Amino acid sequence: MDFTSIVITVGIGVSIYGWRRYIAGGWCCSQARLDGKTVIVTGSNTGIGKETAREFAKRGAKVILGCRNISKAQAAADDIKKSTSNDKVLVYQLDLSSLAAVKNFAERIIKGEERLDVLVNNAATAQAHRLETNDGLEMVIGTNHFGHFLLTNLLLDLLKKSSPSRIVTVSSDGYQWARRGIKFDDIHLKQNFTGFVAYGQSKLANILFTIELCRRLQGTRITANVLHPGAIRTDIIDHFVHHAFPLPFITIPIFQCMMWIFGKTVVQGAQTSIYCAVEESIATTSGVYFKDCAPTKLQDFAQDEKAAKRLWELSAEAVGLEKKLV
Ligand SMILES: NC(=O)c1ccc[n+]([C@@H]2O[C@H](COP(=O)([O-])OP(=O)(O)OC[C@H]3O[C@@H](n4cnc5c(N)ncnc54)[C@H](OP(=O)(O)O)[C@@H]3O)[C@@H](O)[C@H]2O)c1
Repeated sequence: MDFTSIVITVGIGVSIYGWRRYIAGGWCCSQARLDGKTVIVTGSNTGIGKETAREFAKRGAKVILGCRNISKAQAAADDIKKSTSNDKVLVYQLDLSSLAAVKNFAERIIKGEERLDVLVNNAATAQAHRLETNDGLEMVIGTNHFGHFLLTNLLLDLLKKSSPSRIVTVSSDGYQWARRGIKFDDIHLKQNFTGFVAYGQSKLANILFTIELCRRLQGTRITANVLHPGAIRTDIIDHFVHHAFPLPFITIPIFQCMMWIFGKTVVQGAQTSIYCAVEESIATTSGVYFKDCAPTKLQDFAQDEKAAKRLWELSAEAVGLEKKLV
């Protein structure tokens, strides 16, 4: 190899390294331990949720994986136990698209656990075509918002009992696909469904839910924050691209290439969730949208307190919350 080739090769290597470092975004540098604490991460058998759960286990927590597929979740739990030498990693079945299943999961937690220090509402689905849950809710908002809305409300007493405690909800900058706001006159998108709007609306609902939850939790020592993890190549994206675009044999390789250039790894993608759950300097921060382990500004329509209240009332009715919990 001549000198010019060496310079070009090193230059390319350094540029790729620099780019990857830039794309990696923020990193949770907190050394906080979680010994004696109990955390729940929904949808933690894979992707960002699994890496979030792994980090909690590394820090000594008792980690509950709330997942719909028990065998996939058990494999994840075994992998986490092996890599962290923490045996307190449990699998509980949780299908967020079923209100009855959410209630069963919450009952099991309330009966079996003495405390709950961190709840990470991480699970999500994205669908290219309209589906309904067994409860008659549109599948994407039914899983991503209504399921977590009910779960959080049912676990609030335990979170209060264990306070200071934290609720962390994983949203997405994709909330901007719903820039006209929540479709209150057709929230289940019966009249006009597109996969982007359905996902965007559900992620906007995660944000508005957190804003109203934070307001209702004032005076308690429970914080509620919401975040965008970055762009990461995980199952949810592969599934969506596969079903939403024509010619998947062309679009998928193009997409994979783009994600390789512009995407974070799953460990990098988990950093903001971990940060919101453990970082000491934000122990009393609540109602904030984070990205790359730092607060970030939301578009005006995602800070609409009236819409947040309206969504809360609508959600409480839709999931059949029997009493006002907060
Ligand atoms: N990847 C990205 O670029 C990106 C960007 C912005 C925001 N996010 C957000 O990050 C979070 C994690 O997503 P990810 O990228 O890590 O995707 P992922 O790897 O597909 O993980 C999603 C998890 O949610 C679970 N899930 C789906 N439907 C469920 C249901 N009905 N009940 C219980 N669990 C269910 C999945 O379980 P199964 O394995 O059984 O399907 C899986 O464990 C999501 O909230 C997503 O919106 C991701």
